[in-house]
Amino acid sequence: GAMTVRLYEPMRRHTTMLVGGPAQFWIEPHTFEAFAEAVAYCRERGIAVRVVGRGSNLLVRDGGIRGAVIHPKGGEFNDCHVDEEGHVVAGAGVRLKKVASVAEAAGIGGFEWMEGIPGNVGGALRMNAGAMGVETFDQVVSVTLLGEDGEIVTRSRDEVESFYRNVPELRRNFALKAVFSGEPDTAENIRQRWDDSRAKRRATQPVAASAGCIFKNPEAVPAGMLVDELGMKGTGEGPAEVSAEHGNFIVNRGGAKAGDVLGLIERIRGQARMKRNIELETEVKI
Ligand code: EPU
Repeated sequence: GAMTVRLYEPMRRHTTMLVGGPAQFWIEPHTFEAFAEAVAYCRERGIAVRVVGRGSNLLVRDGGIRGAVIHPKGGEFNDCHVDEEGHVVAGAGVRLKKVASVAEAAGIGGFEWMEGIPGNVGGALRMNAGAMGVETFDQVVSVTLLGEDGEIVTRSRDEVESFYRNVPELRRNFALKAVFSGEPDTAENIRQRWDDSRAKRRATQPVAASAGCIFKNPEAVPAGMLVDELGMKGTGEGPAEVSAEHGNFIVNRGGAKAGDVLGLIERIRGQARMKRNIELETEVKI
């Protein structure tokens, strides 16, 4: 059928941090229509709706999630192709790494920064994910989304305001797919930037289970540098540990609970407040 539904689905199976209790209703729509139907069904019944893609920037509490979690998957959600205008079209369920490799194969440059981002297109749009000085919305041409009235609409980039790790429109409405633009380039140049991104990431970021950067960078100092200066790298709360490689990552050494991670986040925020008078804001969604 056009959707799959499961009850009490453990969220630790669907987050890169590998923590989190059960989602009451787990819904996998495979078409935009099925997605719209699932949202309408829940809203009519007062069931809270959340959308989770790859779960890479998400910390789910141990008590789980009341209501429905919609996970766009399969069908048009996983379509990724280059159109006649040389734009890359990708459904919300496509991995960013896939977008980068489809662009590379077509000789379109500018997507290399996506190679190491462990997220899907939907989540990247929602939070304006970025790396290597580029943000998702730098490359958006248009976004197709499910509006509040249940209509599926396409908005050009100019119609959707985007900020550092924040796209207010996509907090209210759900992204279904997007069209991205890059620049035609040689295979060598693209490969070079891809390798540079990979090398930088490998040299500075952990490979262990994590949710990527935990905090937004405050204006005064990058969060990773701040945690480093506070001497908190390598400190832990149970199996949850501040990465020894990068201060803005918390890694799950195996079997950590969301409570361990949250405890560690609060400890870091407390130290930053006390010693540097900086109020850290989480980048991961809790
Ligand atoms: N630094 C330290 N100690 C550390 C970590 C970093 O001194 O433990 C220093 C670095 O040497 C550098 C500065 O802090 O001078 C910034 O570090 P980095 O270059 O690693 O970049 P970042 O600002 O920490 C941002 C994004 C990452 C993205 C990288 C690479 C945010 C919150 N983070 O990190 O995104 O991968 O740039 O482009 O904007 C994410 O969004 O989840 C994420 C990991």
